[in-house]
Amino acid sequence: MKKPADKKEIPLENISDIETKKLAEKALKEIKEEGEIFISSAPGRVNLIGEHTDYNLGLVMPMAINLRTVIVGRKTKNGKIKIISINKNEEKEVDSDKITPQKNWADYFLGPIYLMQKRYKLKIEGLEMIVNSSIPMGGGLSSSASCEISTIKLISAMFNLKIPPKEVAVLGRKAENEFVGVPCGIMDQMASVFGKENKSMLVNCKNLKVEYIDLPENWSFLVCDSGVKHSLGSSEYSKRKAECEEALRILRKNFGVESLSSANIKMLEKIKDIMPEKIFKRAKFVIEENQRVKEAKKYIKEKNKEKIFKLFLESQLGLKNLYEVSCREIDILIEIAWSFKNIIGARMTGGGFGGNIIAIVEKGKEKEFSDYIKEEYRTKTGIETSVRVVKPSSGAWAIKLT
Ligand code: GLA
Repeated sequence: MKKPADKKEIPLENISDIETKKLAEKALKEIKEEGEIFISSAPGRVNLIGEHTDYNLGLVMPMAINLRTVIVGRKTKNGKIKIISINKNEEKEVDSDKITPQKNWADYFLGPIYLMQKRYKLKIEGLEMIVNSSIPMGGGLSSSASCEISTIKLISAMFNLKIPPKEVAVLGRKAENEFVGVPCGIMDQMASVFGKENKSMLVNCKNLKVEYIDLPENWSFLVCDSGVKHSLGSSEYSKRKAECEEALRILRKNFGVESLSSANIKMLEKIKDIMPEKIFKRAKFVIEENQRVKEAKKYIKEKNKEKIFKLFLESQLGLKNLYEVSCREIDILIEIAWSFKNIIGARMTGGGFGGNIIAIVEKGKEKEFSDYIKEEYRTKTGIETSVRVVKPSSGAWAIKLT
């Protein structure tokens, strides 16, 4: 092994994305050997609207953001998969031919590798991967999906696999469902794969068709962190999924629909009496939220601020009162955002029970909004919120660096 001082500079000039470059520079310092080095970069996301509709085969409208998970990696021959996390300042190592869930952060990387070994019959002798991410963990901005997608891209580049993009997303979700053990839908992985600059995506989760929506140039997107992530989030997520399945069972029996997203409010009203109230509320939310995604597409195209405000507000109230996945801190944060005089729209984003809200304001109003929400939230809850301006960004990629 050469001494670090003798190491050649690794060229990053071909990488135009500033965020990736910044994250890669730090990660590359950990590579102690020369040879073929690969890099992958995958974004997190915010969901503009269409919450809890993905696992009901409905519509979602996420946008990939300029916070990313970057991995630099190389093949080794020691029979080990070693993953170093810059963020955690930790490393994990497992035998490359005996990958099993470790029940820690490494599973977001090991899960995809394990599935790829099986599916593409990959012979992996050994790997060293260094991970650096700017996506806050557990904040509802899809840090986990970005780790999975970044890994799949990295391994594809290393082993010269041409995996169709939809398959990358499906594989990422499978890793999260089956290896990590979280029963998520496909939205986050689709957003991380298909993101595009200055656009959000309308994803049909039944057939995985993606339609790109131009976002008004003078709208600015901010995420504000409630500073809490209630632990009941994951168990409640599974419960909501089961409740939706129960609603579908009753709707299917009566109307033959194949998913909650293909049912309508009239059907639901007709069977209100035979449906437990809670199940009715969950189904009502999903049916209405799905409709809101279609309307959002129209109103974004029209740059209709009043209608967007109303849609986001209705989505939030549905999440709070019908789907019951909000929490006190999010309610307070949202109320503050709504009371800002130049707000275009605000709602929670992601699964719920804490995490971030997404707020849209006109360009130029970011600082005013940020100062306002920080001050008010501190006064009302004693919690500091961090506010970030996020930009609609490109999806995941990987290349050979040296
Ligand atoms: C989490 C899941 C997604 C989706 C959202 C709610 O982010 O990972 O699949 O279900 O919650 O819209």
